[in-house]
Order: sequence, then structure tokens, then C-alpha cells
Amino acid sequence: MKALILSGGKGTRLRPLTYTRAKQLIPVANKPTLFYGLESIAAAGVRDIGIIVGETRDEVMAAVGDGSHFGVQVTYIDQPEPRGLAHAVQTAQNFLGQEPFIMYLGDNILRDGVKPFVEAYHAKQPDALILLTQVDKPELFGNAVLNPDGSIRALEEKPKQPKSNLALVGVYLFTAKVHAAIARIRPSGRNELEITDAISQMITDGCRVESHRVAGWWKDTGNAEDLLSANRVVLERLQGHIQGQAEDAVKIEGPVSIGPGSIVRRTVLRGPLVIGQGCVIEDCFIGPFTSVDDKCLLSHCEIEHSIVMKHCQIKQVGQRIENSIFGEHSVVQGQMQLPRSHCFVVGDRSQISLSQS
Ligand code: DAU
Repeated sequence: MKALILSGGKGTRLRPLTYTRAKQLIPVANKPTLFYGLESIAAAGVRDIGIIVGETRDEVMAAVGDGSHFGVQVTYIDQPEPRGLAHAVQTAQNFLGQEPFIMYLGDNILRDGVKPFVEAYHAKQPDALILLTQVDKPELFGNAVLNPDGSIRALEEKPKQPKSNLALVGVYLFTAKVHAAIARIRPSGRNELEITDAISQMITDGCRVESHRVAGWWKDTGNAEDLLSANRVVLERLQGHIQGQAEDAVKIEGPVSIGPGSIVRRTVLRGPLVIGQGCVIEDCFIGPFTSVDDKCLLSHCEIEHSIVMKHCQIKQVGQRIENSIFGEHSVVQGQMQLPRSHCFVVGDRSQISLSQS
């Protein structure tokens, strides 16, 4: 069995973060989203992995390398334009050959990884296996309707009026029969070759398509809210580990990780939270579900339920920061002198929400 991870696309819903970074490399609990998929595929025993890359190929290749760090062998496959998930499979056809493969969308994270899913495939030996879970907003996903006996009745990509609350999770298992189905579908209304349509085509062609339910949580980190939510659920399972220095008057509650070379002074750390390497944190409150990545400087601020990427500086901010995401090298500096004005240098499509005092 091979694996195909999709790490192309444009990530428009995560702008401005994706103006400067591949969406699959945005960190969740200080680890790029893509690495969760790679690790879970490796843990399921699949070693031969193709990664679909697009305009952010250089960045993805620099982060993942040849895969040896993950115990796998990676082949990069260029998709010139993000023309849909089924188009990505078509692009990878030479790499995939006639082997069955697990397809994994690079912005998805599953608590329990993909091992149970791969095992279900081996046990059932279908032509395709899809992964389903209940969601609150099925209109945002591929949608599945099942028959009373559990077999699949219909699949539809982001229907305006969903007929069930079951979403297709971004992990699929296919035999080589999927290629013939993809060859027969046409682009959708959004001009993409949809994998959901290819699976429907397989059903029409009489292939055995079965479904499997996700046991733990699943997150598609497609927008800012989902990203913070993924950060929260990953940190919920954090086992604290202090490698840096917690110096005078540091109060630690709950699971907290501090990376090597980081120094924390006169601060309350209320986990679960993670601080990367080489950070300096002084006179702060860092609250639950916060990830502070390497080389950040935080002083005289309160922050919780947030993601702070590498090399950020957050200083002297009067009010608590929450539900926030700071891209690399961001600087937020409170102003103590009069006039009490706000001063911004803000990139395209940034979002700022100010509470009035
Ligand atoms: O996350 C689950 C959902 O993923 C499913 O419920 C939907 O049925 C499925 O179509 C997909 O929907 P999204 O709108 O979330 O897909 P998105 O465009 O975000 O692409 C998913 C990943 O695949 C992302 O990492 C980018 C990559 N990609 C996407 C396209 C369209 C490519 O590598 N090439 C592409 O052409």
C-alpha cells in the first residue's frame, strides 16, 4: 500500500496566514499540521508516500525533506493548478501505479490517526473505503447519506441542503479502480474534479464502496476557528515536560511544556499549554490552550486559547488576548504614553478585534 498526501491548494480561507506560508505548515501545538498526517501514516506501517505540492512546493519540501525523519520515503508530485482532489489523484497516477493507497488531505488531523482505518480496509477488502463522522455544519463538507443497513446511498460535495449530518473526513482508501472512475467524471460547479464525485461514480459502476466511522475527534484546519479548535484538542492530551528554565515566581498549573533554552520569569502558566525553544516570557499570564512557538518574546501580557508562531514579540498589552493567531515575526506592543492611540502596520486581509474600555 502507498499513501498520497495532498499539500497543494491555495488556502484562501486562512488568509492572511497563507499569503506567506503553505496552509499545511501552519503549526498546531507547535507542530506543522502536515506532520500529524505523515506521522499517522508512518504509524500505520505505510512507508511509500507521495506528496502533492503546488505553488508552496519549496516550503513543503524544505520542511519534510526526503521523509527519513519520519521513517518514510517521500516522492513529491507537482500539481500545476489546484484543480480538485480527484485531479490530484490523476496527477499522481504514475506514482500510484496499480497499488491501493491511502489518500490524506494535508490539513486534516485525526486524534487516533489512520491505523484503525487501514486495518478496517484490510479486514473488509472493499474497492474504496471512506471515513465518516457527524458534524454540526454538514453543508461545509462532502456529505454522505446511508441506507438503513449502513451501506452508502448517496454522496454529495458541500450540498446547500444536506440530507444527513455525516461528513466525509479527509482520509480515503482506494484501490486502483478509482482511476477509471476519475477518468469518467467532469469538473463540478466550482470547476474542480471532486473526489466525492469519483466515489459516487465508483458506486454507479458497481464497485464495493464501504464506510468507516471516526472514533476520536477529527479536525479540518481550513479556517482560523478550526485551527484554534485543533490546537485546543491536541493540547488537551499534552503531557507536560519542562526542559527550559522556570525561574523566580513562576506558577505552573496543569500540563505545561517549556522547550530547551526558554526562560520564564514572574509568570503564571495555566496549562495545557506549550512554549517552544529559545523563548523569553516575563510578567505574563499564559492561559489554557495556548501554543507559543520558538524564539518568541512575551512580556507584561495575558494570553489564552491562541497560537503564537515563531519569532513573535508581544509586549505591554493592557487587555487579555484570546482566540488569536499571530503569524511569524508579528510584533504587538502596548503604548504606555499619551496620546492613547492605536498604531497599526497590518498586512492584507488581517483581522483585528479591539475591545473598547
Ligand atoms: O476535510 C474534509 C473535506 O475535504 C471533505 O469533507 C470534502 O468532501 C473534500 O472535498 C475536502 O473539502 P475542502 O474544501 O476542505 O478541501 P480543500 O480545498 O481545503 O483541500 C483539501 C486539501 O487538499 C488541502 O490540504 C489542499 C489540498 N489540495 C486541494 C485541491 C483542491 C490539493 O493538494 N490540490 C487541489 O487541487
